[in-house]
Amino acid sequence: PRILILGAPGAGKGTQSKRLCEAYGIEHITTGDALRANKQMETEYGTPAEYMDAGELVPDPLVNEIVAAALEDADGFVLDGYPRNESQVEYLEDATELDVVLYLDVSEEELVRRLTGRRVCPDCGASYHVEFNAPEETGVCDECGAELVQRDDDTEETVRERLKTYEENTEDVIEHYRSTDEFVEVDGEQTPDEVWADVKAAVDSRT
Ligand code: AP5
Ligand code: ZN
Repeated sequence: PRILILGAPGAGKGTQSKRLCEAYGIEHITTGDALRANKQMETEYGTPAEYMDAGELVPDPLVNEIVAAALEDADGFVLDGYPRNESQVEYLEDATELDVVLYLDVSEEELVRRLTGRRVCPDCGASYHVEFNAPEETGVCDECGAELVQRDDDTEETVRERLKTYEENTEDVIEHYRSTDEFVEVDGEQTPDEVWADVKAAVDSRT
C-alpha cells in the first residue's frame, strides 16, 4: 500500500509508521530522519540544522528532493513528515497517488508531554517515552542496547516553536486531505496498541 500519515509533532507518526512497515513490508519515507542524518550538510540554503533546531520548516527544494528520490525506489511506502505546506502538497500530487491518508488527532497539551519526554536510540532509531513507553532498563534501548538520547529539538522551547510552525503551515494540509476519499481520522490519544488497531483497520479497508 501507499500510505500517507499526517499529524502534529509528537502525534505518534513515527511510532505507527514503524508498525506499518513491519506489518506490510513497505518502506518508511521520513523527511525528518533523512534531514537529521544530513543535519550539518552545507547547501545553498544553509544547513538543515539551522531550521530544525529553531523549529522551522527546512526549505522546500531540499525536502522535495529527498521525497522524490525515495519514492522512485519504493513500491509500497508510508510517507511520514511530508507534505507540510501547500507547495509540498502540489509536489507530492504530481509525484504519486495514495491509497490511504491517515490523520492522528492529538491535543496540544498531550503533544508537549510526549515530545519533552521522548528518548530515541541513536543507533537503531527506536523511540521511547520516559513515562508512557519506557524501555525495560532506564536509558537503554530494548532492541539494540545503545544509550538513549533526547532529540535536539525536543526541548520545551523548540517544541513550542514546532507546534507554532505546524499551526501556521500544516493545518491547511490536513484540511486539504480531509475532503478526499482516502482520508481517515484516527484518535491518536489512545494507547499505542489501540491506535495501531485503528490504523491497521483503516489500511486494510482501503487496500
Ligand atoms: P520530524 O522528524 O518529522 O518531526 P515531527 O513532525 O515534529 O514529528 P515527530 O517525529 O516529533 O513526532 P511523531 O509524530 O513521529 O511522534 P513519535 O511517534 O516519535 O521533523 C523534524 C524537523 O525536520 C521539522 O521541525 C523541520 O524543521 C524538518 N522537516 C521535516 N520534514 C519537513 C518537511 N516536509 N518540510 C520542511 N521541513 C521538514 O511519538 C512522540 C512521543 O510520544 C514518543 O516518545 C513516543 O514514544 C510517544 N508516543 C507515541 N504514541 C503514543 C501514544 N499512543 N500514547 C502515548 N505516547 C505515545
Ligand atoms: Zn536501538
